[in-house]
Amino acid sequence: MRALNELVRKNIQALSPYSSARDEFSGSAEILLDANENPYGNYNRYPDPYQKQLKEQLSELKSIPTENIFVGNGSDEAIDLLFRIFCEPGIDKALSFAPTYGMYRVSAQINNVDWKELPLNADFEVDIVSLSPLVSDERLKLIFICSPNNPTGNTIDRKSLMKVLDLFPGIVVIDEAYIDFSEEESALSLIENYPNLVVLQTLSKAWGQAGLRIGFAYAQKEIIQYFNKVKPPYNVSLANQTLAFQALQNSNRFNENITTIKQEKVKLEEALANIPQVLKIFPSETNFLLIKLKNATSIYKELVKHQIIVRDRSNQIEDTLRITVGSPAENKKLIQTLQLILA
Ligand SMILES: Cc1ncc(COP(=O)(O)O)c(C=O)c1O
Repeated sequence: MRALNELVRKNIQALSPYSSARDEFSGSAEILLDANENPYGNYNRYPDPYQKQLKEQLSELKSIPTENIFVGNGSDEAIDLLFRIFCEPGIDKALSFAPTYGMYRVSAQINNVDWKELPLNADFEVDIVSLSPLVSDERLKLIFICSPNNPTGNTIDRKSLMKVLDLFPGIVVIDEAYIDFSEEESALSLIENYPNLVVLQTLSKAWGQAGLRIGFAYAQKEIIQYFNKVKPPYNVSLANQTLAFQALQNSNRFNENITTIKQEKVKLEEALANIPQVLKIFPSETNFLLIKLKNATSIYKELVKHQIIVRDRSNQIEDTLRITVGSPAENKKLIQTLQLILA
């Protein structure tokens, strides 16, 4: 890996971060007259800028020190901050492997970062051969790999992930939004040995808390310190910190949800396989199924007329729909409606 001071934008290295009122003292206080808050109400105080309580809970759950954790307003915030920390607008580059999650490209373009997509191979795996000639480009700062990948549903082979980490001297971001549905091991265990690795996870999927907007970036502490330097001081609200902390305490519900969603996925897969127009169901280690069927876009539109919204992914892979595994009643209604439309 190149030295971090070669990878991080010079203005970010030189930045004196905003120092919030609560940063400037430690210990306990009886009277807080430092932050122009209102003395009345339940949410009248600014939240902990570093989400200590939430990180401690997560640290225990994931067996990773709190100094290796960044908490964001969804993992989408972490994605945006990665560009802001590492990529000089108009100069630096980032890449990913298509088809994949659309926010990497959008975040790159918002930050005026040159964006490239290499195709995943026929098995939806990372193609090291096509990546190799690009890794020595000094302007290439970030490589995003989504595993399990959205929308293809597969996890990326661990050996390929490690090859990219070994080969590329910049930052490798592994987005594990769906890892809790997968049997594969998380890349979190690689952080200790790879200073160029950032792992993203979220409460939006298996934890069922998409409305809270809580995402995590895990990395060695030198990178996490840059996240803390660049983030807005109070990026996670007090309400959200409290609710996320409560959600993380309920690991029974988390495990039950995963079991139920996996069972429902099998049932949904069986029902879809019985529909003759469904040409292919891609193997999925996530909470969604990607299916191939003739005239996918017009079937998508028919489903919308029945107030059922799935995701038309035909612009990424010809004639495909991505279907989230819903509740038993939702899945049943989807199948009935598809049968009706296709009869
Ligand atoms: C691969 C991937 N990463 C990140 C996200 C967004 O996560 P969050 O809700 O934490 O911003 C999604 C949401 O669909 C996703 O599919």
